[in-house]
Amino acid sequence: MEDYKDLFAEAMTQMQKGAFLVADDNVMTIGWCQLGIIWGKPVCTVFVRQSRFTHDVLEHADHFTVSVPKIGEMAKELGYCATHSGRNTDKFMEGGIARIPSRSDAPAGVSGCSMHFECRILSRTEMDLSRTDSGVTARYYGSNQATPDGDPHTVLFAEILNAYRE
Ligand SMILES: Cc1cc2nc3c(=O)[nH]c(=O)nc-3n(C[C@H](O)[C@H](O)[C@H](O)COP(=O)(O)O)c2cc1C
Repeated sequence: MEDYKDLFAEAMTQMQKGAFLVADDNVMTIGWCQLGIIWGKPVCTVFVRQSRFTHDVLEHADHFTVSVPKIGEMAKELGYCATHSGRNTDKFMEGGIARIPSRSDAPAGVSGCSMHFECRILSRTEMDLSRTDSGVTARYYGSNQATPDGDPHTVLFAEILNAYRE
C-alpha cells in the first residue's frame, strides 16, 4: 500500500466535487467521506442515506471501494451516478463507466480516477437524530428528504485494505 497519509490529504481536497462509492456492481456519487486512523487502522468512513439502493447493497456486503477523481474531472460521470439509481439502472453499463481491476476482495473501482481506496467494512451505525444538533437536523434531515423521517444516514466504517493512485 502507498503511504496512505499522503493520499488522505490529497483525496480530501479532490473529494470536494464528489467521489464514487462502489458497492458490488453498483456505483453512486458521494460527497461525504472521511479518512483517518481508528482502532489502530487506516479507516474510510462513508455516509449513506437509507433510501439509496447502495444502502441496500451495503447491508449485505463486506467491502466497498471509493474512487476519487481529480478535481474538475469526470463531472459527467459524477452527475450520472448521482441522478440514477442502481435499483433500476446498471450504471456501469448504461453510463459507460469503466472499472479498474481490484487488488483485494473489494469491488473493482471506477477507471479514470486519480486514486482508489479498497475497503473492508468494520462497523455500521445508524444516525440517531434525537441526539444530533438541531441545526444539522433541520438542514439535512427535514421532512423534505426522500423519506418523511429525514432519511438518516447509515455511517459505515471500513478498513482501507489498499490505497493507490491510478
Ligand atoms: C455531489 C453529491 C454528493 C452526494 N453524496 C452523497 C452521500 O455522501 N451520501 C448519500 O447517501 N448520497 C449522496 N448523494 C446522492 C446519491 O449520489 C444519489 O442519491 C444516487 O442516485 C444514489 O444512487 P443509488 O440509488 O444507486 O444508491 C450525493 C449526490 C451528489 C450530487
